[in-house]
Parts: sequence; C-alpha cells; structure tokens
Amino acid sequence: MGFMTEHHPHFLANRHDYVPAAGHDALLPGYDLLTRVLGMNQVYDALVAQAGLSAGQRVVEIGCGTGNLTVRAKAACPGAEIVGTDPDPRALRRAERKAKSLAGVRFERAYAQELPFDDGEFDTALSSMMLHHLDETTQAAALCELFRVLKPGARAHIVDVRGDALPRLLRAAGFDCATAGSGRLRLAGQVTRFRATRPV
Ligand SMILES: C[S@@+](CC[C@H](N)C(=O)[O-])C[C@H]1O[C@@H](n2cnc3c(N)ncnc32)[C@H](O)[C@@H]1O
Repeated sequence: MGFMTEHHPHFLANRHDYVPAAGHDALLPGYDLLTRVLGMNQVYDALVAQAGLSAGQRVVEIGCGTGNLTVRAKAACPGAEIVGTDPDPRALRRAERKAKSLAGVRFERAYAQELPFDDGEFDTALSSMMLHHLDETTQAAALCELFRVLKPGARAHIVDVRGDALPRLLRAAGFDCATAGSGRLRLAGQVTRFRATRPV
C-alpha cells in the first residue's frame, strides 16, 4: 500500500513498471497478514455491500493483488462471474491459489490503463487500494478504461487512501461520481469509498 511504497532504501528499489502490493516483491508473502492487521477486511466488506452484486453479473476488479476482495465478492454473490486483474504475476499466483475451489472466478494479468476487454463487457467494476499506486496521468487513463469496459448504466465501486483527486478524475472520464462512505484504517489513515456510474 502507498504508505509502504515510497522512499524505499536502495535494496528495496522496484524492478517493475508497477508498484507491487506491499511495495516490493520480497514483502508480498506478508501482504495478506498486513491487510488483516490494518483492518482491511471491513473495508472489503463495505465495498462489496456497496456494490450489491447480483447473480449473473459480470464483474471486473482492477488491481486485485492477492485476490482478497475478489474472493470476498464471490462469497457474497456466488452467482456473479468475476475477473480479477493485476500486472503482478506473483500476486496473481497467490490469488489463483486462494480462489482455486471457486467456479466463476478467474484472474488475468493486465494494467488498469490498458484493459484487455471489449467495450461494455462488465456490469460492475471493483477497485481497492490500487489507484494511489498510479501517477495522476495513469489514474486518468485507468478510469477512462474502466468507463470503456462498463456497460452504460453500470457502476464502479472504488475505495482508496488519498482519494482527493478521484471525483475530478472520475468526472473527467465521463462518470457520475458520488462519495459513498469513509473510514479510518490503522496506520494507513482515511479511506474513502466512491460510487461511479457510467451514464446511460
Ligand atoms: C495495495 S495493492 C491492493 C491489492 C488489492 N486490491 C487489495 O485491496 O488487497 C495495489 C495493487 O495494485 C497493483 N497495481 C499497480 N499498478 C497497477 C496498474 N497500473 N494497473 C493495475 N494494478 C496495478 C499492484 O500490483 C497491487 O497488487
């Protein structure tokens, strides 16, 4: 997460064109424990409740990391079909292991700013703690991609730290945007949930 991703000492410098979930590959095995300690499970559950998924919906998650939100969304709505995407193959391997007994969940390697999906493929999009990993230009590109892959009338449900720029960027991408809730995470501080609707 962002508070762990900045100002690395040299030995923890990133070798990727993305910031991994825990800030560095070597820390990934501890990521799920970290999310539990921070209280992320409540954040995931609030976002899933906000999304109000229903059976038969096609759902995409951008920046799914190790698949924690993906799996919780599937548990809340077993009839939904969910695709988790992330550029980090190591995180995706962990996500695949977590979801191996679940039908209707798959993972695909993808950057949020370059989604490998057709226009209007999805009924719902989810994103947790991912957008703050991107600079503002890339965030804007990712939100345009999200808009493109959602059906008219469909919604994206997003939670993040440092979400100040998101309403403006969501509106610039074409979404109607509302703040849906907020809370505080241990160590990471304020998190805000957004509901973004692609107008019909
Ligand atoms: C803090 S983790 C959050 C993971 C998961 N959503 C969660 O809440 O546990 C941020 C994730 O964003 C991913 N990420 C970084 N750059 C990305 C990009 N350009 N497109 C999509 N995901 C990206 C990282 O690989 C990482 O898995």
